[in-house]
Amino acid sequence: MDWIERRREQLERAGQAHLLRFWDELNEAERAELRGDLDGCDFSEVEHFFCQAVKASGPLQQQQQTMDERMEPVPKEVQGSVTRDRERLPEWKAEGLLQISESKVAVLLLAGGQGTRLGVTYPKGMYNVDLLSQKTLFQIQAERILKLQQLASKQFERKCTIPWYIMTSGRTMESTEEFFVKNGYFGLQKENIILFQQGMLPAMTFDGKAILEGKSKVAMAPDGNGGLYRALGNKEIVKNMEDRGIGYIHVYCVDNILVKVADPTFIGFCVKQQADCGAKVVEKTNPTEAVGVVCKVNGLYQVVEYSEITLVTAQKRNPDGRLTFNAGNICNHFFTLPFLKDIVEIHEPQLRHHVAQKKIPYVDDQGQQIIPDKPNGIKMEKFVFDIFQFSKKFVVFEVLREDEFSPLKNADSQDGKDTPTTARHALMSLHHRWVLNAGGYFVDENGTRIPAIPSSTTGMSEAVTAVDNDNLKELTDLPIKCEISALVSYAGEGLDKYVAGRDFRPPLIIDENGAHELTKNGL
Ligand code: UD1
Repeated sequence: MDWIERRREQLERAGQAHLLRFWDELNEAERAELRGDLDGCDFSEVEHFFCQAVKASGPLQQQQQTMDERMEPVPKEVQGSVTRDRERLPEWKAEGLLQISESKVAVLLLAGGQGTRLGVTYPKGMYNVDLLSQKTLFQIQAERILKLQQLASKQFERKCTIPWYIMTSGRTMESTEEFFVKNGYFGLQKENIILFQQGMLPAMTFDGKAILEGKSKVAMAPDGNGGLYRALGNKEIVKNMEDRGIGYIHVYCVDNILVKVADPTFIGFCVKQQADCGAKVVEKTNPTEAVGVVCKVNGLYQVVEYSEITLVTAQKRNPDGRLTFNAGNICNHFFTLPFLKDIVEIHEPQLRHHVAQKKIPYVDDQGQQIIPDKPNGIKMEKFVFDIFQFSKKFVVFEVLREDEFSPLKNADSQDGKDTPTTARHALMSLHHRWVLNAGGYFVDENGTRIPAIPSSTTGMSEAVTAVDNDNLKELTDLPIKCEISALVSYAGEGLDKYVAGRDFRPPLIIDENGAHELTKNGL
């Protein structure tokens, strides 16, 4: 029996025979394409996932109400905070740096998403939000890793490595790989960047039929960022981590321009608390903000997405006026390797797929592609945080939004949220504050200092060269245009020598070559 007969039989048994309905009219290349899609799917498994996921979902309103009843906020004893625990931060940072210096810390980037809302066809990490340097998200993250390796090496006088594991998907693998090669791995060692691919699943109609997006193409989508755990097992990544002697893993998502990759303070906090799993959060202040909240459900830690609770619960406030469910998830997690290993080897199959109703392009019986105007099917996704429930010691670390969280989700639009413009502004405004904290000043086109927070530091730096500047009207725009290369400073440290006591007329760039004011035409 040849491939097509065997496949037809299998698909008939699985109730998916419609996927071959255009087979006879396909040319060789199209047949090869469809064959690739079908060979990549185990339809009996897909059917099992579908039944489980759909059974677990049920009507939205009912789900929301039952969720509301079962939720409690994160207890105080498992929380750390950059504001409330200020005096302990140096201790935690020192612990994190120590672990990094011993090459026990790895970072793992979730970069398999499709960037649908941003509207780009390439991986989000390759996005350039139009910073002064024109650096992409991947480059910014790579340079933070490089700098942190340097800081830890210097402090503990030994060479160290932070391996960078990057999860891609069928949609992002090739272009991500090409981008890193083209850019010389941004100065990192090739062997310390480990790309691996997550799985894909077909999009399904509400009654469980896989959707054909074209005559020779099944509508496939990555299986969610929780597809991580299966991918880790399949690709032997955990083994790679073990071989390298990794103890702790910082997992984060690609779109946060402010992400502190392998943040030593967060890692040190988790290690000192002997946690096996941790989540970094920012305070959610607006009940309708589209972030999940970390909380307990039936006594187990979980993230409840904003769509899973009623507005009434999202709006609940404590006597001090803060939202009751205010631990805003920023997709920034800590795992010990033994915990991750248990998830991959034992718990992964217990994780159910979540169901998202979507508008999925499909072909009708005449082979015409239709773009639906309302949801016509579902995508099934596992979520990275669904494993919190298995943690024996879970902790939460609250950080400041303005310092650490500005995600890139949507394309630019007027008054848009989480756009290239908001991401760019967030980074510039953070770097502006770093300059002020290190004792630098900004001046307007008349040379008058722009009011700023006071600084105790004084002194002149030779690295600063004043360039005669045209009357730059950008000065009146907010924020002040200022960008500091991560190769110079990971989190605002070490800037005194460049800026203390100096006046700068923006735009200002600080990089390995010093501090430069930019003219309208560049350097
Ligand atoms: C995510 C969080 C949400 C949080 C928000 C903060 C999840 C499931 N939800 O929501 O709780 O408040 O970030 O910004 O984590 N990805 C993959 N493979 C996939 C799908 C996504 O690797 O199949 C990656 C994306 O590339 C991205 C990250 O996961 O780096 C987050 O995905 P995204 O779809 O942007 O999640 P949100 O809905 O924004």
